[in-house]
Amino acid sequence: MANNLLKGKRGIVFGALNDKSIAWKVAERAVEEGATITLSNTPIAVRMGTTNELAEKLHAEVIPADATSVEDLENVFKRSQEVLGGKIDFVLHSIGMSPNVRKKRTYDDLDYNFLNTTLDISAISFHKMIQVAKKQDAIAEYGSIVALSYVAAQRTFYGYNDMADAKALLESIARSFGYIYGREKNVRINTISQSPTLTTAGTGVKGMDKLYDFANRMSPLGNASADECADYCIVMFSDLTRKVTMQNLYHDGGFSSIGMSLRAMNTYQKGLDEYKDENGNIIYG
Ligand SMILES: NC(=O)c1ccc[n+]([C@@H]2O[C@H](COP(=O)([O-])OP(=O)(O)OC[C@H]3O[C@@H](n4cnc5c(N)ncnc54)[C@H](O)[C@@H]3O)[C@@H](O)[C@H]2O)c1
Repeated sequence: MANNLLKGKRGIVFGALNDKSIAWKVAERAVEEGATITLSNTPIAVRMGTTNELAEKLHAEVIPADATSVEDLENVFKRSQEVLGGKIDFVLHSIGMSPNVRKKRTYDDLDYNFLNTTLDISAISFHKMIQVAKKQDAIAEYGSIVALSYVAAQRTFYGYNDMADAKALLESIARSFGYIYGREKNVRINTISQSPTLTTAGTGVKGMDKLYDFANRMSPLGNASADECADYCIVMFSDLTRKVTMQNLYHDGGFSSIGMSLRAMNTYQKGLDEYKDENGNIIYG
């Protein structure tokens, strides 16, 4: 249901890889709500993924960029203002990747070059994006910048690995830059802490199917879907939230405030056998 919440607004959506991506849903919803947008993803993702299909459907230009490259980001903001015809009202950072997770390096055996890459792609790219935007004065007054986070920034989750550190940094950047950009240009910066979601990045997390099920049982409202996350992003981009900034906003069906639910307790009746080695010792990972 469209309410013209973003009528006349211009936005940039980073991170739509395929139709499971949270960014994909956000892009669709933003256009449905009256916005015009550009899309960005890595050159390889644009070639291998289906971003171009989305672009065609939404009449949006795709501007390839590695979000760790300041030069690429400068081009995204410059080109987006040209294509969309003015300053940008909203930006979605929906980017995450950990080579340690991909290569199955556990948290007590991290490869530090991989860790640098995790932090650069998943968190520092957010700083780079905002710094580039501010230097170009590319964001309109009361513009809204949102990045997607996860509750592993606050609490430890099996298998989330160095992405937990990346999310903690991401949320901190939202606060630190939110102060400066808010003070100087009334631009707001927030993170949305989303439920486990079955996307390409999500399913890369060890034990994701079980985590998804557990979070669903723990959350009074159940897990929030990618479509529901898109709805929340739209509200955060809209003029209805002009005084919300420097926040980490949970969008998780209540998960972050629950200690234990009856439905989740039932999952403990299941065994841990599949997490044991041949000697019967639990593999923690
Ligand atoms: N899926 C979940 O369970 C979940 C939960 C909470 C938060 N999030 C966050 O949501 C965001 C989006 O992830 P998703 O679940 O939609 O998965 P996704 O795999 O669809 O999206 C991740 C995107 O990051 C892009 N990316 C990777 N490296 C990049 C780089 N160097 N430069 C630019 N883009 C790059 C990928 O191409 C991809 O489009 C991530 O920040 C993720 O951590 C996901």
